[in-house]
Amino acid sequence: MKKIKVWDIPTRLFHWALLIGVAFMWYSSGDFDLMEYHMIIGRLILCMLVFRIVWGFVGSITARFTDFIRSPISGIRYLFGRDSSRTEGHNPAGGWMILALMLVLLTQAVTGLFADDDIFYSGPFFLSVDADLADWLNGLHHQNIDYLWVLIGIHVLASIVYQIRGKNLIGSMLTGNKQAEETVEAPEMRSPWLALAIFCVICGLGYYFMW
Ligand code: HEM
Repeated sequence: MKKIKVWDIPTRLFHWALLIGVAFMWYSSGDFDLMEYHMIIGRLILCMLVFRIVWGFVGSITARFTDFIRSPISGIRYLFGRDSSRTEGHNPAGGWMILALMLVLLTQAVTGLFADDDIFYSGPFFLSVDADLADWLNGLHHQNIDYLWVLIGIHVLASIVYQIRGKNLIGSMLTGNKQAEETVEAPEMRSPWLALAIFCVICGLGYYFMW
């Protein structure tokens, strides 16, 4: 066995920053005094999600959608131990979980831009759309969080099960490394500087359009 790099720095930073960010969003959502920060960090999370989507097309091999999104049948077969196709990155079932998490998070962040607390705080686009639509999006911002908790629960549970079975997925997401057989070639990694440049452009656009 040998050690190979499977997760690049941008993907790992995205993962752990998202974890901290979502924890803060949950904590701040119930505190009127923190709502201003809720709206700032929420916009930043939206920029991170957009970055991750772009990185899913131009990033390192294991970060790309083409590497981890297979057919739904393949995902189901993997869960029953009947799919032998493999990548050093996400497995076929994990890939669908990542996609679902990203879609639900994206919905949460985008609807936040139209949210309103009926007292003092409202998202930057709350007044830009028809009142009924804003109301619906605001409702979705409150309801969608339940779907997010369910997905996060499954995601954490699956990681713990893998950990108990001896697959150190959490350690891999921290160090970027995985144990692999000697014959396995390390996947190609893109430069973290490219990721930083993309992220800066997205944040610049986000600042221009969302403030
Ligand atoms: C992933 C990102 C986000 C998460 C996880 C999140 C989570 C939440 C949660 C759990 C609530 C409370 C819902 C409730 O009381 O039932 C909330 C409320 C709110 N959020 Fe977000 N949010 C996010 C992004 C945003 C963004 C980007 C904005 C605006 C820029 C925003 C603006 C608001 C506002 C104004 C409220 C108050 C609504 C009310 O109290 O009725 N959120 N958010």
